[in-house]
Amino acid sequence: MADDGRGAKRQKTSGAEMDPKANPYLAHHYEEESNGYSNGYSNGFSRSKKASSTVFDNLIRHQTSSKDAEVAENGPNNAFTGQPLSNRYFNILKGRRNLPVHTQRQEFLDMFQKSQILVFVGETGSGKTTQIPQFVLFDDMPQLQGKMVACTQPRRVAAMSVAQRVANEMDVPLGEEVGYSIRFEDKTSPRTILKYMTDGMLLREAMTDNNLSRYSCLILDEAHERTLATDILMGLLKEVARRRPDLKIVIMSATLDAQKFQKYFKIGEDPAPLLAVPGRTHPVEIFYTAEPERDYVEAALRTVLQIHATEPEGDILLFLTGEEEIEDACRKIGLEADELVREADAGPLKVYPLYGTLPPAQQQRIFDPAPPPHKPGGRPGRKCIVSTNIAETSLTIDGIVYVVDPGFSKQKVYNPRIRVESLLVSPISKASAQQRAGRAGRTRPGKCFRLYTEGAFKKELIEQTYPEILRSNLSMTVLQLKKLGIDDLVHFDLMDPPAPETLMRALEELNYLACLDDEGELTHLGRLAAEFPLDPSIGVMLISSPEFYCSNEMLSLTALLSVPQLFNRPASARKRADEMKELFAHPDGDHLTMLNVYHAFKGPEAQRDPKQWCHDHFLSYRALQQADNVRSQLKRIMEREDLELMSTPFEDKKYYENIRRALVSGFFMQVAKRDGSGKTYITVKDDQSVLLHPSTVLAQEAEWVVYNEFVLTTKNYIRTVTAVKAEWLLDIAPMYYNIEDFKQGEIRRSLQKTADTLRRKEALKAGKSRK
Ligand SMILES: Nc1ncnc2c1ncn2[C@@H]1O[C@H](COP(=O)(O)OP(=O)(O)O)[C@@H](O)[C@H]1O
Ligand SMILES: [Mg+2]
Repeated sequence: MADDGRGAKRQKTSGAEMDPKANPYLAHHYEEESNGYSNGYSNGFSRSKKASSTVFDNLIRHQTSSKDAEVAENGPNNAFTGQPLSNRYFNILKGRRNLPVHTQRQEFLDMFQKSQILVFVGETGSGKTTQIPQFVLFDDMPQLQGKMVACTQPRRVAAMSVAQRVANEMDVPLGEEVGYSIRFEDKTSPRTILKYMTDGMLLREAMTDNNLSRYSCLILDEAHERTLATDILMGLLKEVARRRPDLKIVIMSATLDAQKFQKYFKIGEDPAPLLAVPGRTHPVEIFYTAEPERDYVEAALRTVLQIHATEPEGDILLFLTGEEEIEDACRKIGLEADELVREADAGPLKVYPLYGTLPPAQQQRIFDPAPPPHKPGGRPGRKCIVSTNIAETSLTIDGIVYVVDPGFSKQKVYNPRIRVESLLVSPISKASAQQRAGRAGRTRPGKCFRLYTEGAFKKELIEQTYPEILRSNLSMTVLQLKKLGIDDLVHFDLMDPPAPETLMRALEELNYLACLDDEGELTHLGRLAAEFPLDPSIGVMLISSPEFYCSNEMLSLTALLSVPQLFNRPASARKRADEMKELFAHPDGDHLTMLNVYHAFKGPEAQRDPKQWCHDHFLSYRALQQADNVRSQLKRIMEREDLELMSTPFEDKKYYENIRRALVSGFFMQVAKRDGSGKTYITVKDDQSVLLHPSTVLAQEAEWVVYNEFVLTTKNYIRTVTAVKAEWLLDIAPMYYNIEDFKQGEIRRSLQKTADTLRRKEALKAGKSRK
């Protein structure tokens, strides 16, 4: 039935009492339909029946052939909308039929129809992500079931970018038949039949819909990345598959290490069937440096420019580790390339950055063709893409011939002993290095310049990157699993079980947060916290905030903590940027400063021309806009869960204090105390010596601080810090600050002193009132 979940849920959010047909904003969904189902297709696919005698009329679900699909794809009308197909569609179609997966369409269908679970491997760029979901659509016909096909991606950027591409390929507007869903952004409609989504979003959906009943087929893409969410999803899917024999599952991976997936998803005693698309890659010549490089960024820039000056036509892909490094490198390469053009008559070079938080319009630019020569017959132009790991397997850029691989990427690491999870620039694995090199051989023989020695490759790089589940704080995961009803975490069937210590730490944290009781059972608070797509500590902070009369403010703050960096600090205008930041600075810390920024941003002066205002104040307009959007989504969850929205009046002395107290209610495990009178701080319980991050507005005198983030570099920093008081710690988190549990030392002494003072005050008060 069409309304077994999806219809019902959508009605609920759009207001059950209101007929959606009466809503002018939704009217276009109902133009041609009479059945009133929220899925515009449900009544025997009425829309395209009218437009043409529908191709699906003559096909039997799960019995179609690749020939059938090709006929349907050839048009002249769109099989899913009935609309005439555009020229662009046919142009793209030609390219699609040249992709390696195309030749195996029939083979894929045979296996897909025969088996509930299928493992599919193919070289990056063979067409897995864009084509396989479409192969499925034509055979699975989710529109006739009132269901959808979902394809998961580990990265938000990939989900968005691929959805856009596939919408173009299917000749539909993005967000209609093809959409995407990522945290805090849902670009789908009731007509959506193919949804690209992050693996984390699908996991979240599983919490409210244990059988994932909205889907007829789930495709887990990039399974080789082994993200935390993918690993948990695979565990869940094994169980869902048993409960729902009608559900099809495809596991897709870029590496040939597929046996592990086949074994994991075994059917009876047999491994899950495997379909491997042979790669169609050209040979790639690999170069190593003779000596280790001291500064990999500098070496990378040098190499890119050298390629541009001396190598024949072909685009360049350089792997770096993060936004700042990439933007900086792009600027430098751009400048130097201009000089090469002037002095050595080099061809034009266009440089594009690529990283996760890049706005979609800019992401699309990486697919622009290389620039033409300066003058007819001149030296050819080329493009250079400077990217994070995204370009390793998630996104395929045609035309790359040269890859520059410094051998590093940002990776999550977690140390359960000191409870620190951090992103660290770390050496990549051999498997990653091979993937990177492979990017050079997509269209013709290429070259890969590894900025490390051959010896280092052989001896120092590990074979495979460890799965994320072994490198993460698992609090959020454990909370999600509990919500999913999986109580026996130790026996939950994971491909690689996490270390017992990591699990213990997560259970302990959730217990301190009162999300789990002493028996490990989910509490009311825990159930609520799981409703928020947030770290449990932030969720708990938000849920507790009405007790501190500042839920409106904590809502804003949570949103601000969920978006990229607010403050811009361009190398060319550091001083000016710092002066501007000073305007918003609150002496008690960075959280309050961020809040001041947000309030100013929402004020009348800024709103007259918010973009200009942000530019003038060295603030990221995009981040603030995003925060606004995140805020309204979190607000909806607050309202749904009956959490009161309120503020302390701004004139009230307690306005900021209440906010700081509310911070403690979630972040009491992320507290540091100043060490004597020096600059260093010591983290509570974990005893790590840290410094305040240089970006802080907080003066060094604060004795106790909460921090948002532990940054591991050559020195340990805590970033985004706000001053708090010891008495609040004792008052708000008495379980965690049970003085007996602390080892002898400065922190215990100080807490004890505070407790004694409090007790004396209480006694005094009691004495007075007795009189
Ligand atoms: N946004 C895009 N713009 C232009 N071409 C694209 C885009 N995305 C994918 N392609 C084309 O589709 C091909 C297949 O890509 P994809 O399905 O992502 O492969 P895989 O998932 O196997 O790595 C690419 O090689 C490229 O030619
Ligand atoms: Mg892919």
